[in-house]
Amino acid sequence: MEDFKTKTGRTVEDMSIKDQLILDKLPRHVAIIMDGNGRWAKQRGNSRVFGHKNGVKAVREVTEAAAELGIDYLTLYAFSTENWNRPKIEVDALMALLVSTISSEAKTLMKNNVKLNAIGCKESLPDHVQKQLENCISETSKNTGLTLSLALSYSSRWEIVEAVKNIAQAIKENTVDPEDITNEVFSNYLTTAGIPDPELMIRTSGEHRISNFLLWQLAYSELYFSEILWPDFRKEDFYRALIDFQSRERRFGKTSDQLKK
Ligand code: FPP
Repeated sequence: MEDFKTKTGRTVEDMSIKDQLILDKLPRHVAIIMDGNGRWAKQRGNSRVFGHKNGVKAVREVTEAAAELGIDYLTLYAFSTENWNRPKIEVDALMALLVSTISSEAKTLMKNNVKLNAIGCKESLPDHVQKQLENCISETSKNTGLTLSLALSYSSRWEIVEAVKNIAQAIKENTVDPEDITNEVFSNYLTTAGIPDPELMIRTSGEHRISNFLLWQLAYSELYFSEILWPDFRKEDFYRALIDFQSRERRFGKTSDQLKK
């Protein structure tokens, strides 16, 4: 995967971190709250936008790592509904960064069989961003490797309210019987329809919050919090999160003894 424009400078010690992974016990879906760009930039006496620009390298690293390991789904929280309230200069810069990154990485996504997807209120994105996104989604739609979902203008409460509205409409039109609504039926009304729930959610920068991200889908996910600020997050940090995940006992409400039977 040397086509991803990244040089990790991995040390011998880091190599051994990857070797500790149990390859047949990987999650199918990892979701990430990429946090800490602003603080990373501030530590360097620079603007918040500088932090976002440097965050793109970490996006490449985790995408490459996930694709190389054969993980099926990676979902990145790139812009929340609430992020529209940030200063206009920062919102505009984030939109421009999104467009330039999608445009510069499209070829690499193709070459590495990555399928791009977007979740969130796409209609609220500026027209040129929607266009660029749709082009890349359509160009990569036949790829069969990693599905990379960008959460854009996304919030979980927005998504759940939209799902409820659509179900209510379907009931009104007599195409859905309230008695038939199950977890699976409800899931199919979410923007993640067809994508399995994440087994692992990572948040960087030392914050221990979910921040309106995949509230329904994270019901049974393992949560991993890293102190590292997003622009510094590298493949090895991703492996560490996966190794930690592999040490967890996932009980889904059962007892430890029941799982051993
Ligand atoms: C959170 O850090 C980060 C964001 C709101 C934006 C994430 C965007 C990128 C990583 C760059 C572009 C992404 C793609 C997919 C091309 P923060 O600004 O809240 O940091 P702070 O908590 O330190 O202020």
